[in-house]
Parts: sequence; C-alpha cells; structure tokens
Amino acid sequence: MLKFSIALTRRIIGKFLPQKSKKKIWQLWRRIRVVKDSIHAYLHDLSRFLRWSGIWRKYSNRVQLRAIITANFHGIEKGLSLKNPRPGFGSGHVYDLVSGLEKYQEEYGSDETTRYAINALIAYYQFNLIQGTDDRKLYEQISKLAEKCGKHCSAGGAKQVTRDNIHRASKRDLTGFFESRHSIRQFAADVDVDLKEIEKAVRMAQQTPSACNRQAWKVYVFSKDEDKKRILSLQKGSRGFGDQASKILVITTDLGNFLSIEERNQAWVDGGMFAMSLVYALHSLGLGTCCLHWCVRCEVDQELKKFAGITDAELVPMLVAVGHLPDEFMVAQSPRRDIKDMLVFK
Ligand SMILES: Cc1cc2nc3c(=O)[nH]c(=O)nc-3n(C[C@H](O)[C@H](O)[C@H](O)COP(=O)(O)O)c2cc1C
Repeated sequence: MLKFSIALTRRIIGKFLPQKSKKKIWQLWRRIRVVKDSIHAYLHDLSRFLRWSGIWRKYSNRVQLRAIITANFHGIEKGLSLKNPRPGFGSGHVYDLVSGLEKYQEEYGSDETTRYAINALIAYYQFNLIQGTDDRKLYEQISKLAEKCGKHCSAGGAKQVTRDNIHRASKRDLTGFFESRHSIRQFAADVDVDLKEIEKAVRMAQQTPSACNRQAWKVYVFSKDEDKKRILSLQKGSRGFGDQASKILVITTDLGNFLSIEERNQAWVDGGMFAMSLVYALHSLGLGTCCLHWCVRCEVDQELKKFAGITDAELVPMLVAVGHLPDEFMVAQSPRRDIKDMLVFK
C-alpha cells in the first residue's frame, strides 16, 4: 500500500510540477529518508549498547565480569610500572578486584584471567610489604583465591625490561614492509592458506594494545566455499575477487567489555587496531589480504550474525579476505595524500 502511494505521488509530481520544483521535492524526500534511516540505525546501536555493554555493572555474564577483573588488575599492573608507585595506590580497585574474582571463581571457576589477576594482586601485596605495609586481610583474601585457582603461571604484575633488548627485537627499517602491503584482489587459485598460519598471525595480533588490556576481539575463520559465498553475498565490496580468497575472517569485538558510556565507541577503536595488526601479521607471513568493510544495514548485520553464530553482543568492525599471492599480478596504486595535509606539528 505504502509502495503504491509513493509510486502514485511520484507520478503526480512527475507530471504536473516544473523541473526545478521536482528536484527540490526529491532532495527533501531523500533527506527525510536519510534522517529516518539514521534514527533507526542509531536507535539500534543504542539499544544494543544498553543491552550488552557492561555499563550497568551487573556482571551478568562472563565477558562483563572478566572485563571488570581485567580492567582492575590492569590498574595494578599500570601502577606497578610507574617510576615511583605510591604505596597503597589504587586500594579501591584492589578490593573491587578481590570481590570480582570471588564472584568469577564461584560462577565460572578459574582460568588464565583469574591466574593473571591473582599474580598481579600478589605483586601488589609484595610491593606494599617492601614499602612497610603488611596488609594481612588482603594476604588472606589472596591466599584463598590462589588456593582455589590451582594451576600457577608467572604472568601478571609488572616486569623488568631493558632498552637494549627492546631495540634488538624492534629496531629495523620497516619502510619496505609497510610499502609492500597492498590490498590484494587476486589470489593464487586453489592454494589453501593453512589454518596454522592464521593462528600464528592471530597470536601476533594479540599483542595489539587495547583499552585496559581487555582484548575484546574474536576472529571467526571461514574456509568452506559455501560459507564464504554466503558471507560475501552480504558484503558489497568483494565482487570479482572475494571468491578467490582461501579464508574469510570476520573480526568482532564484544560490547560486554565496555564499562561506561564514555567507552561507547571503544569497541570500534580496539577492533580496528586489532584488525590492522592482523593484516600486518598476515603480510609478514607472506600472505595477501584485503580488508572488507562491514558497512551494512542493521538487518544485514543480523543476518550475518545468525548465519555465522556471532552473538548480538558483538560488533563487526570489518572482514578480511586472505589468500596466497600469485606470482605476478596487479594492485591498485592507491597513492597517499601529501603528508603536509595530515601531519600537524604544533
Ligand atoms: C575498513 C576497510 C574496509 C575496506 N573495504 C574494502 C572492500 O570492501 N573492498 C575492497 O576492495 N577494498 C576494501 N578496502 C581496501 C581499501 O580500498 C584500501 O585499503 C585502500 O584503497 C588503500 O589501498 P592499499 O590497502 O592497497 O594500500 C577496505 C579497507 C579498509 C581499511
């Protein structure tokens, strides 16, 4: 009925109005539609954020509770990595962390997050002990948590590093590395990318910085032709080459990791940074990649999630097509803007 009315109005306008007025009416119509669609999309994002983020601090699922634990033990690690940590710093966070850990162990048992957090607490206790404060209550709480934790590991707290070691591992001219990465839109036919290579690249990309080290990322790897085809049919930027990719990666970030309204865009930032690391990691392994936007309507986003088994709490910053490089092929030159346009020394 609505379609019919729109078509009728179009006809009437087309027949009786002069060209100039017609143009103005269409422009107005377009604007109304853009505003309507924007409101729909923003309301969708808002309700998703309110539903899935950790802003209510109810710790209603594992992701949210792990995020608050990670943010709190990160606060301890951060404090311990300062030049002159203040004795007893962050005591509010410490008690929050202890109660978060108790709840987590009760509901989900122990895992690497609880182990890292307990190690950070031990380091905090020892730091204060050296400063002359023996917090027995904290000691007992940590002992109880550690007892339940079982397995031990060494990660968590702060560690000593040297400039020499960092320079030995990092100082090299990477200009060629950066300049040789291109978006690849031709992949070697029928040569599969080994899943071990993907895993290796994801391990490297895990070193990406993230807000309070929350690492909200996930990577879904699709290898089957029918799955890749289905996903790419929802994405409009891979025509002519997507079908040659050996793997399609869907990168997501879970909103449960974000704990305040100020963090409403952080899932996109952390996801984008992770995606960039992953693309460079794959490049370092000699593989070709093409980032694929996920600029889609809410309904299409939901369709992908349903098909791929991605939860509604996750955002999709982008997809990445991955494949082996052919011997010789064309890439877009994609020249970069003049640096003067974008580098501002103040
Ligand atoms: C988030 C994002 C989404 C992109 N989406 C697409 C896409 O859908 N299809 C495509 O062919 N290229 C896509 N690209 C690749 C860009 O076109 C490309 O990075 C840019 O032109 C610079 O070229 P280069 O990557 O070869 O240096 C995307 C890049 C980014 C970062």
